[in-house]
Amino acid sequence: MGVLRFLRLCALFLTFTVCNGWLFDSFGEQRRREADEVALWPLPQKVQSSGTAFRLSATSFQIVHGKGSTAGPSCSLLQNAFRRYYNYIFGDVRKHGKNLNNVFDSDVLELQVLITAADPECDGYPSIKSDESYSLEVDQPAAVLKAANVWGALRGLETFSQLVYEDDYGAHNVNKTSISDFPRFAHRGILLDTSRHYLPLRFILENLEAMAMNKFNVFHWHIVDDHSFPFQSRTFPDLSHKGAFHPFTHVYTPSDVKMVIEFARMRGIRVVAEFDTPGHTQSWGKGQTDLLTPCYSGSSPSGSFGPVNPILNTTYDFMTRFFKEVSTVFPDAYIHLGGDEVDFSCWKSNPDIQKFMDKQGFGQDYSKLESYYIQRLLDIVSSTNKGYMVWQEVFDNGVKLKADTHLHVWKVKPQYQDEMARITAAGFHALLSSPWYLNRITFGQDWQDAYKADPQNFNGTAEQKKLVIGGEACLWGEYVDATNLTPRLWPRASAVGERLWSDENVKDVGSAYDRLTKHRCRMVRRGIAAEPLYIGFCPHEYGGQ
Ligand SMILES: *[C@@H]1O[C@H](CO)[C@@H](O)[C@H](O)[C@H]1NC(C)=O
Ligand SMILES: *[C@@H]1O[C@H](CO)[C@@H](O)[C@H](O)[C@H]1NC(C)=O
Ligand SMILES: *[C@@H]1O[C@H](CO)[C@@H](O)[C@H](O)[C@H]1NC(C)=O
Repeated sequence: MGVLRFLRLCALFLTFTVCNGWLFDSFGEQRRREADEVALWPLPQKVQSSGTAFRLSATSFQIVHGKGSTAGPSCSLLQNAFRRYYNYIFGDVRKHGKNLNNVFDSDVLELQVLITAADPECDGYPSIKSDESYSLEVDQPAAVLKAANVWGALRGLETFSQLVYEDDYGAHNVNKTSISDFPRFAHRGILLDTSRHYLPLRFILENLEAMAMNKFNVFHWHIVDDHSFPFQSRTFPDLSHKGAFHPFTHVYTPSDVKMVIEFARMRGIRVVAEFDTPGHTQSWGKGQTDLLTPCYSGSSPSGSFGPVNPILNTTYDFMTRFFKEVSTVFPDAYIHLGGDEVDFSCWKSNPDIQKFMDKQGFGQDYSKLESYYIQRLLDIVSSTNKGYMVWQEVFDNGVKLKADTHLHVWKVKPQYQDEMARITAAGFHALLSSPWYLNRITFGQDWQDAYKADPQNFNGTAEQKKLVIGGEACLWGEYVDATNLTPRLWPRASAVGERLWSDENVKDVGSAYDRLTKHRCRMVRRGIAAEPLYIGFCPHEYGGQ
């Protein structure tokens, strides 16, 4: 229907507001024709697409459990995902009340999701060992998505939803396509910092949603730090009561934390909490007396405090009880224990610490004292049957580590490639964040630097490269709160998402730009306030607001 005839109709029958919406929508429609093409992000390992287009009708198309699947309607994780992806595919139609699809029959009647493993893992948690591979055959009269278990199915559903596009008549189409896909790295994370600024729950959930759109699978929750302690502990309620920015409004209650973990699980995302010690703990000291080291000015206490006090037995009693709780609250097999940036000046000023150092024969080497503390902490956490992740300093300082420790490389100097080489040469697993501190912003398309970085780009043997488990994009919170979190993170983090999922040879910045521009528009259409990459427009942005 032409715009003029629309206007005439408007004038005759409808209120101005409604017409306005329709008018803009019809412009949106035209623009969509030019710009809405399929853009897969991150790019699957193997894609064979064809020019044979099939129609999907919003009224008859369904996502269903395939015949012989080991998962059925009792698998709420999949039921939930089927609904979510149906809405992502057809959401536009409903919102704008367009019924154009109804006049067509579906060529592809359904997407059959076939889970093949004896245990579909519907009620389980994703882990570093989860199988996220899947295959997708889009054909007539049904598309088939095959995966060993639910984790691969989730990734495949996202890919299927990305294959659907609208044609010139506003109908939903999908081309005959064959895809087989799996992640390059098992650990693909996003770090959010809820200590420097508190992030209300719904913003955390929104970002988990965006993570799933980019096939990320680890939410590294940097939950507490010097600045505030929003984690509400049942064992030590004073920690958040006195250490949070506000004791009631700026805390994560046990049920909040449960909700985050379940929301993430439904999207195949692990929640790895970080409780960083012995540095970065000022906020802990507010609710737990004698935990931090009193700093001295000359021969008397200055009134300020330093890192956790490593010489008191009460410190280890506290840590034992605290991490016992943490290990039950967070089901993931790993806890991140931090261990970065310990400032030794306060320890140096304290005469009791001096005496302890002498007794232990540490001389003036404070990294030995740090190692002493971390060593005892690692023993405590090991006794809860958890594995641990730590920042690179713990390795650099020569702390004895369990073989399955995951070492997190974050420093940019000296060059991180050498650190990756050293860690893997020592036989430890490494993950990379140095080039992916997305809180650092520069003018221009800085996603490209993130895109070009590769965690396996260091001098080392094939054996060493195999020890690289992936990486994380980090969004530290000095200058980030709920107002700018989402646009600062997306789509810049998407660049990291493709680096960690797709084949290592997928690195052409030009083709990435085209796909990422469209992927970003798709995120916006799905309600994620991802910022633009550069000048341009999204085809749907004038539609029906
Ligand atoms: C899908 O098919 C249409 C119609 O033949 C074609 O114009 C388009 O390029 C195809 N898209 C892809 C991604 O193959
Ligand atoms: C701390 O514990 C150690 C070993 O468990 C014990 O020998 C020592 O006396 C304790 N120190 C204090 C001050 O209680
Ligand atoms: C690998 O080693 C070569 C030769 O020493 C050096 O030129 C190069 O910069 C190194 N590459 C990385 C990524 O460190």
